[in-house]
Amino acid sequence: MPKMKAAVFVEKNRIVLEDKAIPDVGPLDALIRITTTTICGTDVHILKGEYPVAKGLTVGHEPVGIIEKLGSAVAGFSEGQRVIAGAITPSGHSFACLCGCASQDGAGSKHGFTATGGWKFGNIIDGCQAEYVLVPDAMANLSPVPDGLSDEEVLMCPDIMSTGFSGAESGQVQIGDTVVVFALGPIGLCAVAGAKLKGATTIIGVDTVPARQEVARQLGASHIVDFKQGDPVAQIMALTDGRGVDVAIEALGSQATFEASLRVLRPGGTLSSLGVYSTDLRIPLDAFAAGLGDKKIITTLCPGGKERMRRLMEVVASGRVDLKPLVTHRYKLDDIEAAYDLFANQRDGVMKVAITP
Ligand SMILES: NC(=O)c1ccc[n+]([C@@H]2O[C@H](COP(=O)([O-])OP(=O)(O)OC[C@H]3O[C@@H](n4cnc5c(N)ncnc54)[C@H](O)[C@@H]3O)[C@@H](O)[C@H]2O)c1
Ligand SMILES: [Zn+2]
Repeated sequence: MPKMKAAVFVEKNRIVLEDKAIPDVGPLDALIRITTTTICGTDVHILKGEYPVAKGLTVGHEPVGIIEKLGSAVAGFSEGQRVIAGAITPSGHSFACLCGCASQDGAGSKHGFTATGGWKFGNIIDGCQAEYVLVPDAMANLSPVPDGLSDEEVLMCPDIMSTGFSGAESGQVQIGDTVVVFALGPIGLCAVAGAKLKGATTIIGVDTVPARQEVARQLGASHIVDFKQGDPVAQIMALTDGRGVDVAIEALGSQATFEASLRVLRPGGTLSSLGVYSTDLRIPLDAFAAGLGDKKIITTLCPGGKERMRRLMEVVASGRVDLKPLVTHRYKLDDIEAAYDLFANQRDGVMKVAITP
């Protein structure tokens, strides 16, 4: 049986490169030869044992590659084509998909009711930090890379850009809005870019890391708030002349940033939450105006599927957003354990790591 190298979750604090069988291709699948992939903050949660996955699972959910083999029933694609697939791979025909919520594909049906719905790669099926990955429901999920775009230019589309942009989309940012983004990791930085594309004119980025503040400015932040230089809520209220913001995007997943997001909303404003939380959240009575504040809270799981990927790659091709500064480090797949060590410990100003088999 032909073998490939794959980064496998063995146990808490151990993701190692192992030999695994190259998967068989079912009728609706496509086998992709990975040319570039990356590590997500969520993979670090898996590494640390904070997010449970099965032992032996290949991790990773951000694939860029070339179609090696198509399933017998897959039409509309050809072997040898350069493609990406989203981190979330909706089937297109589930209850959740047909309710208009494709990201939650599978929730409420065959996989039981899970909060992570259609997130399958590196969660409930083998992921893409490997030489090959099997894409399920290929006709709903393969998206050809436009000519002229490099792997690194489209590497943020499967997850980081899709998630970050969705913070602004779900928050229904309007032309002329004031938006705050709490945390300027890769997700928050893409939320800044998304808020700008949606027409926000005042965009406040909250973080303390100078390099991230700088990239936020490049992507559209008009103001930076350093949460270590005083209470961020007071700083944001001062910046908005006491009005508060139209939309607060939470991009960390902590009580502090969730609560601050709620406190800086104007009357009727929207808290658009992207963070993955690992403890129960508390909603303080005053920040919530005892339930009478007309505030909206919305959460979003990274939108996937081939149409979403096509649109995101169009945004890249148009030149309206340049996410290349997010890729700060490059590693071979053979050295992925070192890449995890760097990324998980946030050394050397790392933002995203490009991994090439
Ligand atoms: N909703 C989704 O579908 C989805 C998808 C991918 C990732 N995520 C989640 O998004 C979150 C962000 O991921 P990331 O990789 O961009 O994060 P990251 O870990 O790279 O960055 C976090 C940033 O938060 C900053 N920070 C720390 N404390 C802060 C505070 N009190 N106020 C403001 N900033 C603070 C840090 O300085 C750092 O720059 C994570 O919870 C991740 O799991 C969600
Ligand atoms: Zn991710």
